Amino acid sequence: MKSRVLVTGANGQLGKTIREISGDFTISIDFVFVDRSELDITNIESLELLFQSKDFDYCINCAAYTNVDLAETEIKQAMSINATAVNNLAINCKKHSVILIHVSTDYVFDGAKQSPYLESDTTNPINVYGESKLLGEEYIRKQLDNYFIIRTSWLYSKFNKNFVKSILSKLKENEELTIITSQKGTPTSCIDLSYFILFLITNSITNFGTYHFSAKGDTTWYGLALQISKYLNKSSNVTPIKDYPSKALRPLHSVLNNNKVEALTKKPLKNWEESVNEVLKSLSKV
Ligand SMILES: NC(=O)c1ccc[n+]([C@@H]2O[C@H](COP(=O)([O-])OP(=O)(O)OC[C@H]3O[C@@H](n4cnc5c(N)ncnc54)[C@H](OP(=O)(O)O)[C@@H]3O)[C@@H](O)[C@H]2O)c1
Repeated sequence: MKSRVLVTGANGQLGKTIREISGDFTISIDFVFVDRSELDITNIESLELLFQSKDFDYCINCAAYTNVDLAETEIKQAMSINATAVNNLAINCKKHSVILIHVSTDYVFDGAKQSPYLESDTTNPINVYGESKLLGEEYIRKQLDNYFIIRTSWLYSKFNKNFVKSILSKLKENEELTIITSQKGTPTSCIDLSYFILFLITNSITNFGTYHFSAKGDTTWYGLALQISKYLNKSSNVTPIKDYPSKALRPLHSVLNNNKVEALTKKPLKNWEESVNEVLKSLSKV
């Protein structure tokens, strides 16, 4: 029997990526994609109506408040979308026996650990966005047994605005760029993450809980920009700088340990360079 899957926040970069690859899964999954205009997850009545009217097996929550700097001042909005609404989503999932697949972030950690973060490591967010995402996680764990919380990092795709696309277009315009070296993490392709999410569904995985999903390896924002410039043969346009001032503090080291994911899929993850090159290749076709 086909799984009925609700995807919220369908106009975000992750939502659009899942929609793009959904064609590969039509034999096993019936998707319902809803963007913010069709389902505002902060609207309790709309949430209840949708869950009542359709018999979902899974909900993939791609809806989120994702502006890390703005969250420092728009605290209410960030908390409302990333925490309160996630609680309401979890309540509806519980009521209707829906498995919730929720996406969270490496920013739940403070970045003080020098080795890759395990799922069991102590969280300690250092900005409002991280706090709001952590609160969302905590609500899910309180409400549900059947959930997947997938923490990921430095997402990019061919859709919407993201670091990879903005560096690519600036380098194409021959801009000279100065990029920071202070933060270490792992760029993660929305394509790789989407396939992992859909692996959970198509394989009816019941090892519920929290997972760290990123690409393999680590780098800095400068390293990522350099990779993009190498792809374009424009390495001389990127200069490293230690740090830039920004509104929100960010963890200096937020590399995630992916052993739990690899044990589940029995497949090694791709290196971040390989996945970045794949997306750059698909962007050069656009
Ligand atoms: N981007 C990253 O680097 C990164 C890193 C780690 C984890 N994550 C997590 O990964 C997930 C996917 O991120 P992403 O990069 O795909 O984010 P994104 O591109 O910003 O997409 C988020 C989507 O959520 C929608 N949304 C916001 N408020 C909503 C509401 N009240 N109801 C319904 N939809 C709402 C947004 O709609 P509008 O366009 O109308 O605002 C947007 O389409 C998020 O949970 C994020 O926290 C992201």
